[in-house]
Amino acid sequence: RDQELERLLQAHEWTAKLFHYLLKNTEHGKPAMEYLRARGFGDKLIDQFQIGYAPDRWDTLVQFFEKRSFDLKEMEKGGLLSSKQDGSGYVDRFRGRVMFPIMNRSGRIIAFAGRILGEGQPKYLNSPESRLFNKSRTLYNLNLAKSAIRKQGQLVLMEGFGDVIASWDAGVQHSVATMGTALTENHASLMRTLTEEVVICYDGDNAGQAAALKSIPILEEAGMRVKIALLQNGLDPDEYIKTYGAERFASQVIDGAVSTTKFRLIYVKRNYNLLEEDGKASYAQEALKVIAQLSSPTEREVYLKELSTEVGVSLESLKQDCNLMRQTLNRTRPQGQNGNRSSGNGNSRK
Ligand code: CTP
Ligand code: MN
Ligand code: MN
Ligand code: MN
Ligand code: MN
Repeated sequence: RDQELERLLQAHEWTAKLFHYLLKNTEHGKPAMEYLRARGFGDKLIDQFQIGYAPDRWDTLVQFFEKRSFDLKEMEKGGLLSSKQDGSGYVDRFRGRVMFPIMNRSGRIIAFAGRILGEGQPKYLNSPESRLFNKSRTLYNLNLAKSAIRKQGQLVLMEGFGDVIASWDAGVQHSVATMGTALTENHASLMRTLTEEVVICYDGDNAGQAAALKSIPILEEAGMRVKIALLQNGLDPDEYIKTYGAERFASQVIDGAVSTTKFRLIYVKRNYNLLEEDGKASYAQEALKVIAQLSSPTEREVYLKELSTEVGVSLESLKQDCNLMRQTLNRTRPQGQNGNRSSGNGNSRK
């Protein structure tokens, strides 16, 4: 049995309990509580996600650990304390922040993320990587979401804490988040152990949409079917739910998630003005590049038909252009690699 690991897990659990208590029951916690209330967190959510508050002091945890004879150096290695610059001791790492415990798959706390109240940098301060916490293998909320993921046969992938918690509150309880890091192969294979289908529900801003584009192949390589949820006006899931409500989020955004091809087409389209002939022609060229990647003739035809209506070009001409493009693709494709994409089923790439 690894004793150090167990002590670090214990320390994280104590810390979460302490911060949770300070948030709910002390004067120190009041501003944090007000902040959470203003963001729509009720008591039930605060309890379920064990949210807490780290007071704006240097020694809340230091004192707490000293009293309980935890080894401060070990706590520093575990990311709960920082060493003083002159090496003369330790101070709390998290100060004046709303604290979100991060659990592993079996529900044990392995790290924290602390959000500043209001504006300021960094917005979130996370635990460093440690023996307990490997960011590229951790998905926030997987412990609570896993049974819903199995039941729904689907996982919803988000960017952040607020998104997952708001989603949970809205009844969409199969959401997890990567917490700001890029999606890794490890994340993807972890997801694949629970389900074959993933809905990417990143923020509706440019950064979120660009990140979605990068995540698609990683998920497909892991053998998952991928759909994309579309959020208008640059909103993130949390903001969307607060603006339009839970019902619309579940029925339109999640259930209305589109194929990866549709998403690529929408993504390309935002650069062109379809009210102008020039814009239409250039958009058609870019769209054809996307459609030409599809291996299924049926799928190609479906999207070509839509494109035909959109840009006012006959299906025949588009098909011809598309086939020409496919010939070029086949010639330039490196040997032994099948670059064909299918939007319907990620498994077709195996
Ligand atoms: N993130 C981080 N460190 C930062 C900023 C972001 O770790 N300095 C991570 C957090 O996990 C955050 C996620 O990236 O939840 C998404 O970032 P962003 O969209 O900027 O934040 P929100 O989740 O929308 O944060 P909030 O709603 O609290 O403003
Ligand atoms: Mn509680
Ligand atoms: Mn974002
Ligand atoms: Mn966001
Ligand atoms: Mn947000």
